Amino acid sequence: MVSPGRGILAADESIKTMSSRLEKVGIAPTADARRAYREMLVTTPGIAEGISGIIFCDETLNQQLSDGRPFAQATREAGMLPGVKVDTGAKPLAGRPGETITEGLDGLSARLAGYAAQGAAFAKWRAVLRITDDLPSTTAIRANAHALARYAAACQEAGLVPIVEPEVLMDGDHTLRRCAEVTARVHAAVMAELAAFGVDMAGVVLKPNMVVEGADHPHRATPEEVAEATVDVLRALPGDLAGVAFLSGGQDPARATANLAAIQLHHTPWPLTFSFGRALVDPALTAWAASGRSTVAGQEALADRVAANSAAVRPRELQATA
Ligand code: 13P
Repeated sequence: MVSPGRGILAADESIKTMSSRLEKVGIAPTADARRAYREMLVTTPGIAEGISGIIFCDETLNQQLSDGRPFAQATREAGMLPGVKVDTGAKPLAGRPGETITEGLDGLSARLAGYAAQGAAFAKWRAVLRITDDLPSTTAIRANAHALARYAAACQEAGLVPIVEPEVLMDGDHTLRRCAEVTARVHAAVMAELAAFGVDMAGVVLKPNMVVEGADHPHRATPEEVAEATVDVLRALPGDLAGVAFLSGGQDPARATANLAAIQLHHTPWPLTFSFGRALVDPALTAWAASGRSTVAGQEALADRVAANSAAVRPRELQATA
């Protein structure tokens, strides 16, 4: 999942989110449109050179390509690992107005066993923390860290690799410093809960946000500033973690890639790569829709973003021969 020069494609938007993205580009949000869009992504020629795994949602894992193969099988046959998002979304956290808790723990072990039987190799759970002047609260951080750890332990019992995603949102006008401080607090809580549940860190991929200023902050940090602040926060993580795969979080695709390349110049004990959603697929969705659902147009746009991000995380010794 974190092999050199490859990242993880997040194509696991919920039915609701994927439907609204399709509607935005003028496509009726049917189950078959969502299926056809994901088929276009998975069958992109050469995609496995830069992508080690694809995260799907439950709906896609139960769908088939036009040739009848289930998505998990087609993904493996293309040289990638299939994974599945298993949280059921961030819901209002009772007692903490303005904050959320990510749900989906009830019946999780049985669902994980089912996904493993369907061929999934890994799973993903996203928790969401929002920054304001006085949020996130310690209570929300602790509750979300606890849920992430219960999920990770259940994954390891089911034989699936957990991707642990505690996302500190870019929403707001906060500074990069404030993002660093909150991200560090969140990581400390998540690591403490993972340890409390006996999760084997060598089998965990952490999917964090990069440390960036809020989307409404007037000053945009340079890739070097983002890289330094991000790696600084990550230094507190255990050295035996399997890897770190960043989410893009709403950064525009070029900025996410530039930040990733700058981060990669720092030496860390674990491999650093990408697990982008929007920064990989937005251009592909736009091109696919604008061309009347041309597979080639969508795949060319995806291949461009995959190649750029794969180059950003390719070790220097491999770059010389690429
Ligand atoms: P973005 O890269 O669009 O933030 O998506 C990553 C993801 O998996 C969100 O859960």
